[in-house]
Amino acid sequence: MKVTVVGAGNVGATCAYALAHREICEEVVLLDVKEGLAEGKALDISQNAPIGIYDTRLLGVSQDYEKTEGSQVVVITSGRPRKPGMNRDDLIHTNARIVKTVVERIREGSPEAILIIVSNPLDVMTYQAHLSSGWDRTRVIGMAGVLDAARYKAFLAAELNVSPKEIQTLLLGGHGDTMVPLPRYTTVGGIPIHEFLEADRLDAIAQRTKVGGGELTKLLGTSAWYAPGGAAAQMVEAILRNQRRIFAACVRLEGEYGIDNCYLGVPVILGRQGVQKIISLQLQPEEQELLEISAEHVKDVMKARDRTEKEQGL
Ligand code: 2OP
Repeated sequence: MKVTVVGAGNVGATCAYALAHREICEEVVLLDVKEGLAEGKALDISQNAPIGIYDTRLLGVSQDYEKTEGSQVVVITSGRPRKPGMNRDDLIHTNARIVKTVVERIREGSPEAILIIVSNPLDVMTYQAHLSSGWDRTRVIGMAGVLDAARYKAFLAAELNVSPKEIQTLLLGGHGDTMVPLPRYTTVGGIPIHEFLEADRLDAIAQRTKVGGGELTKLLGTSAWYAPGGAAAQMVEAILRNQRRIFAACVRLEGEYGIDNCYLGVPVILGRQGVQKIISLQLQPEEQELLEISAEHVKDVMKARDRTEKEQGL
């Protein structure tokens, strides 16, 4: 089995590193436009194999799409990352062009692949990948929910001084400040979160989660990579091992949640076929309202992508 990671920057290389440790495929191909970058990172990860004890093979290539042929899963991380002060939507034109080019090349050599999109603005880059591949929505999936839920869980675990393994949660909506954490679906060792925390503390943690990416961008001068790369690797594992795990992931909604033609994070069952099922929850009116606000925001950015394509071409 082969997995390709496109983009050997921080997120792509971290994803390849996490995949190598998981030993879920024979080969990880890391591809980048920059000569030497993917080769170097793949070589470094290969040299860690005797220390990390894995036998996953790593291959780094510069723009050599032939080497990616026959991939089962392709993770797309390429594109410009955020700089401090930028929001994810500022990257739209450059990254849409990059994602389009990548998907067109991948489509030729790996026509059966499942795509996991990590590039920002996430929801709209998933839209771009869907347009450029022409594939079924079950095979074109955006990563964000796993990452956003991980941030929420990490903050809650620190607040309660419990293992992050004990926290279960769900988070809906776009990968941005309009995302919708759901305390009602959050438990600690099976106990509802409301039994541990007052509403104002929960709100503060939800708020910090929403701007979690921005907090890191400010600290690091560029966007985060450990949790984003690890989150993408976890999704690849769910697919390759047919785990049928429930994750929030960005998919095209076609009427679910009363929302149509919008790419948004919702709970899905992820397995060998990609999105095996979209889970429809009975939301409370205020949760539904927040989800619709998030959908409106994503739709605006989708329209901005459409305008950019019309005016400047991609
Ligand atoms: C983040 O939230 C990379 O968008 C990503 O950190």
